[in-house]
Amino acid sequence: MSRLSVNIDHVATLRQTRSAKFPDPVHAAVMAEQAGADGITLHLRGDRRHIADRDVYLIRQIVTSHMTLEISAKQEMIDIALQIKPDMVTLVPERTGEQTTERGFDLPEEGGELESPVEQLATEGIIVALFVNPTEENMKTAAALGADYVELNTTYYAEAESFEEEVSALRTIEKAAHLASKLKLGVAAGHALNYRNVTNIAAIEPVEELSIGHSIIARAVFVGIEQAVREMKSIIRTAREPRIA
Ligand code: PXP
Repeated sequence: MSRLSVNIDHVATLRQTRSAKFPDPVHAAVMAEQAGADGITLHLRGDRRHIADRDVYLIRQIVTSHMTLEISAKQEMIDIALQIKPDMVTLVPERTGEQTTERGFDLPEEGGELESPVEQLATEGIIVALFVNPTEENMKTAAALGADYVELNTTYYAEAESFEEEVSALRTIEKAAHLASKLKLGVAAGHALNYRNVTNIAAIEPVEELSIGHSIIARAVFVGIEQAVREMKSIIRTAREPRIA
């Protein structure tokens, strides 16, 4: 069964719409863990649009499961990570002004810029993941760079406009996941996963961890974060059970 890391960024988004003190993503992290989250993920963006530095410091102190910090590979962010020491850092490409992470790294093209960040984080014993599109070249380059994990970008699968497109994107992710595992990389997956489309991804054997935010926080508005996390966990839990044809 894949682990579920709950991304709490959008609790902070709601807080920032009023520059208020609530809802507090720290509170959300505690409740998500109590409901069975296997980890907490937060993305400290260069523009501090949702998660603030204070959230990262506090969450490091209260998380008892596994903390993943998503950041760009800029030195300013690497320095924060080295100071905070999350369990895992996921490096992501970040474009100023983007609504959400728009793409995974193209490692054969961009890998050179990641060499030093990966090394600095690894030296401090932080697990390093690279957010990548599911291509053979990306898996091979991630392994060559010394990353511990790849996080496979599931956006193309999640946003497929036809059944054929969805199946094709799923096969691409499956292939990349198996190759990554063969190359001794840990495999995570995420972005745009929800209560409907998560099953196929959670069913892929090498996928160890799912990183899910928006759909869980959106559901939490109606049913509360504990139930929203429990429901997602339950879908993930049964995803690898044999299905009746
Ligand atoms: N993985 C990465 C690398 C991301 O940047 C994000 C969004 O911050 C997620 C997963 C979670 O995506 P979503 O909010 O669509 O579940």
